[in-house]
Amino acid sequence: MTDYVKRKELLLELNSKISDCSLCPLSSSRTNTVPGEGSIETPVVFVGEGPGADEDASGRPFVGRAGELLTKILESVKLSREDIFITNIVKCRPPKNRVPTAEEQKACSPYMLSQLAIIRPKLIVALGATALSYFVNEEGIQITKVRGRIFDWIGGIKVFAMFHPSYLLRNASRAPGSPKSLTWEDIQNVRKMYDQLLSGRNIDI
Ligand code: URA
Repeated sequence: MTDYVKRKELLLELNSKISDCSLCPLSSSRTNTVPGEGSIETPVVFVGEGPGADEDASGRPFVGRAGELLTKILESVKLSREDIFITNIVKCRPPKNRVPTAEEQKACSPYMLSQLAIIRPKLIVALGATALSYFVNEEGIQITKVRGRIFDWIGGIKVFAMFHPSYLLRNASRAPGSPKSLTWEDIQNVRKMYDQLLSGRNIDI
């Protein structure tokens, strides 16, 4: 069995474990689990916070309004959803889209860590404050201050901070310095890093 087939199988096994999960209270209110999707050979994994209503209904990550915007942001630099892997910190929808609690994040964490161990990305793009604070343990860290920055995570993996697309939906201005205009800079850097990693180079932006 090739390495690719083996890893694909491991991910499918993990998805079925996730769909049976009842480790935290979010399992009792979900319609579907939302494990994540995309390329398992990609150097770049995008991580959001948790599924919303559309994701809960479909079982797919980032398919609602925020997801449509994420898809457009990717397409603006000619990346498709199939070029990357997209997942969330928690795999079940928090009621009323509240931020998942520390306990819920902790209970779900082994699933994302297993996904990362299978996919072995070099770069994680943390979308928004919840994802960023999972990976970067800095007191008082603010996404508005650190988006566009690269952080070191374990195993030599880098974490790049970006605004969450839901935040961009609430801040529609495209004026210079606005979250949308900064995101345009950030996604161009993601594209650069993706190309560098695909061609076997180190990240240099
Ligand atoms: N917001 C997220 O953080 N993740 C999704 O999958 C959808 C919306």
